[in-house]
Formats: sequence, structure tokens, C-alpha cells
Amino acid sequence: MSPTPDHSHATFTPEWLALREEADTDARATAPLDPLRAHLTARGAGPGGRPIRVTDLGCGTGAQGRWLAPRLAGPQTWMLHDLDPRLLNLAGAHTPRTSADGSTVQARMHLRDLNRISATDLADTDLVTGSALLDLLTRDQVLAIARAADEAGCAALFTLTVTGRVDLYPSHPADPDITTAFNDHQRRAGLLGPDATAFTAQTFLSLGRRVLTYPSPWRLLPEHTDLTRAWLRGRLRAATEQHPASVPSDYPRHRLDQCERRELGAVVHHTDLLALPDGYPGHP
Ligand SMILES: C[S@@+](CC[C@H](N)C(=O)[O-])C[C@H]1O[C@@H](n2cnc3c(N)ncnc32)[C@H](O)[C@@H]1O
Repeated sequence: MSPTPDHSHATFTPEWLALREEADTDARATAPLDPLRAHLTARGAGPGGRPIRVTDLGCGTGAQGRWLAPRLAGPQTWMLHDLDPRLLNLAGAHTPRTSADGSTVQARMHLRDLNRISATDLADTDLVTGSALLDLLTRDQVLAIARAADEAGCAALFTLTVTGRVDLYPSHPADPDITTAFNDHQRRAGLLGPDATAFTAQTFLSLGRRVLTYPSPWRLLPEHTDLTRAWLRGRLRAATEQHPASVPSDYPRHRLDQCERRELGAVVHHTDLLALPDGYPGHP
């Protein structure tokens, strides 16, 4: 199976998710953690209170839980949602068992499409979350999630959403057209792609939420050969599929050779978004 994302079908292999996990971990903003902790404490969830209930949409192999669960104190129950059974099983098996203060973390797996998420599903949730997910969704899907979160009165944390901006070092004259083609590909069939954070922020704001956003860029250094190679191949495949003329015939070989020689670096810009219900501590 290909280690790279198959952009045409939006399916993701465990190998690709494993390859990107370290870069994701390094990129994630830590600034949302304090307001999130304050919000959870005010809800009575966490140390000295009831278990924190987290719903992770599009959990993949569970990277969000591996990052977040050990950074929150107190017992936690993670509801892991994905429509891919293989990824979901890996997430269930590899969710951390203890939180920041050694309390128990439990994981429950839900094999389901997030199209079917309703306020009822989030009724007992303190935090709805997702990682590398928003740009894969449509406006209607984001609206449904935001309305369900609002009705449940829970916090929402969506991390690692692509912004559409990529800086390659050294640059090449074809880079801007390739970026345009890739971003257009991400917007195919009504998907939000690079418009996801702005749309999600506006949606939560219209519901009266406090919205905080934080940069969370991947910094691909020249020595990150495996990830850069896989990311570049996926990017060029999508750009070629969308606008074939955007990728000069010698560009892929040129860039991949640079990558193998450890002469290619990239910053792939992402954004993390935290939305908190008004009236709770935790927002500025
Ligand atoms: C880019 S992966 C991110 C996985 C994980 N959150 C991470 O950060 O590694 C996107 C995930 O969303 C899932 N997904 C996409 N559309 C979905 C949908 N409509 N319902 C449920 N899961 C979905 C995919 O199966 C995949 O696991």
C-alpha cells in the first residue's frame, strides 16, 4: 500500500500517518492547552472532578490522543470516531493508558462516518476534537459539527489544518503555480481545503463562541528525507491531476533529487483552532 495519502479518495494509510506523526507533534501549538484546561476545570472535568470526555473525530490511528491525553491531568474517556476500521483499531490499541497525573485514560472505538454526528452524540462530551481533519470536510459537515458542539456546550479543538501556504527552500519558479493547483485540488467537490480554518472560525463566532487560532507549521528540514519525499510526491500527484500544466516535466525529478541530496527544506503552514463556549473561564 502506498505510504502517501491518496488525495483522490481521501483515504489515509497507517504508514503515512506514522510518517507524519513526529512532524505533527513538533508543529502542534501548546498555547491552547491553558485555556482548554481552565475550561475543563470550570465544567467539573479533570483532577478532583469527573473524567474528561473527549470525542476525537477522524481519529485515524489516534495521534491526537497520543499528543493530548498525556498533556491533560485527570481521568479521561476518549470516544474515537473514524470510518476506516483498520485505522480505528490501531487508535484503540495505541491510545495512552494514563494522563498527565497518572489517572486512567480509557478509549472507546466508534466505526462511523462523522456525517452522522449529531448533538446527541456530543451531549456528554467536554471536548470535541480533530486533527488534520477540517480541510477534508465540506461546509455542511463543519456546520453540523459546530452546531452539535454548541448545543452540547463543549469546547472544540481542531489542530493541524492546512492553510494552503507552503514555502520551499530553495524556491523554484514553478512553486506558486503548483501551490495553486494543489489548493484547487483540495477544494474539489466542495471540500474546504485551505479555506477550512477561516470558515470554521466564522461558524463558531456566529454561534457566539470565543475562537482562538494558533500557527502550527510543519518545519521539514533537509534531513527529513522520508517525510519530505512522501509529502512532495502526494503534492505533485494532486497538482498534476488538477492542473497538469502546473508541473513542468523536469520538476518532479529535480525536486526529488534535491530531497535525496538533503538540499530541500519546506515549511508547510497549518493552523490550530480552539473554540470555547462564552461564559466559561478559559477564554481571554
Ligand atoms: C489526515 S487523517 C488524520 C488522522 C488523525 N486525526 C491524525 O491526526 O493523524 C484524516 C482522518 O479522517 C478520517 N475521515 C475522513 N473523513 C471522515 C468521515 N466522513 N467520517 C469519519 N472519519 C473520516 C480518515 O479516515 C482519516 O483517518
